[in-house]
Amino acid sequence: MNGNIILETPRLLLRNFEDKDINSFIAYRNDPEVAKYQSWDIPYPETAAREFLEYMQQAKPGTLGEWYQLGIALKSTNEIIGDCAFCILAEDGQQAEIGFTLSRQYQGKGYATEAVTCLLAYLFTEYKLHRVRANCDSANIASVRLLERLGMRQEGHFVKSLWFKGEWVDELWFAILREEW
Ligand SMILES: CC(C)(COP(=O)(O)OP(=O)(O)OC[C@H]1O[C@@H](n2cnc3c(N)ncnc32)[C@H](O)[C@@H]1OP(=O)(O)O)[C@@H](O)C(=O)NCCC(=O)NCCS
Repeated sequence: MNGNIILETPRLLLRNFEDKDINSFIAYRNDPEVAKYQSWDIPYPETAAREFLEYMQQAKPGTLGEWYQLGIALKSTNEIIGDCAFCILAEDGQQAEIGFTLSRQYQGKGYATEAVTCLLAYLFTEYKLHRVRANCDSANIASVRLLERLGMRQEGHFVKSLWFKGEWVDELWFAILREEW
């Protein structure tokens, strides 16, 4: 499989990043509300954004153990409003972990549900996966609600299991099996 992916939903395109996406990407990565439960710290500098987008432009989707990120673009404008990502687990090549982010101004409109539903379909169809999992901070209510809406089952609640941005936080783990999708 080559690095070019374009997936389509009624309102969105899930596509590879392009150079022109950088300003939108930097803007939402620097929003404290968006970054709060995510792996990066703010300020998120332009150099980091540029390196990340360049790395993603040459990455190969489905490489075991490596995250692959797709931009979420509005079909009407091709503007990036967020991104979603997957990593096929190196242990067995039949399970993946996913992640997702939306710019704050595009939250609350069903875009994440639409994008990640499409991502799940892509993963189960293209890679014939057995299981897809996701985790989030138990305080990240929007993420919990999204995972439930996607039909993913909460399978674990680890108490103060992760040292994250200066405190111990609870991790929730969700999953969906191929036969449940
Ligand atoms: C997690 C995240 C992507 C969820 O985004 P979201 O906007 O809540 O989810 P959706 O885009 O699917 O929108 C669903 C909401 O829009 C509403 N909505 C409005 N119009 C809608 C439509 N046409 N279709 C579906 N839902 C619609 C739904 O009722 C729902 O609201 P509710 O949760 O209050 O019931 C977002 O909060 C985010 O990016 N957070 C920051 C990054 C982050 O923490 N990522 C997760 C790390 S684990």
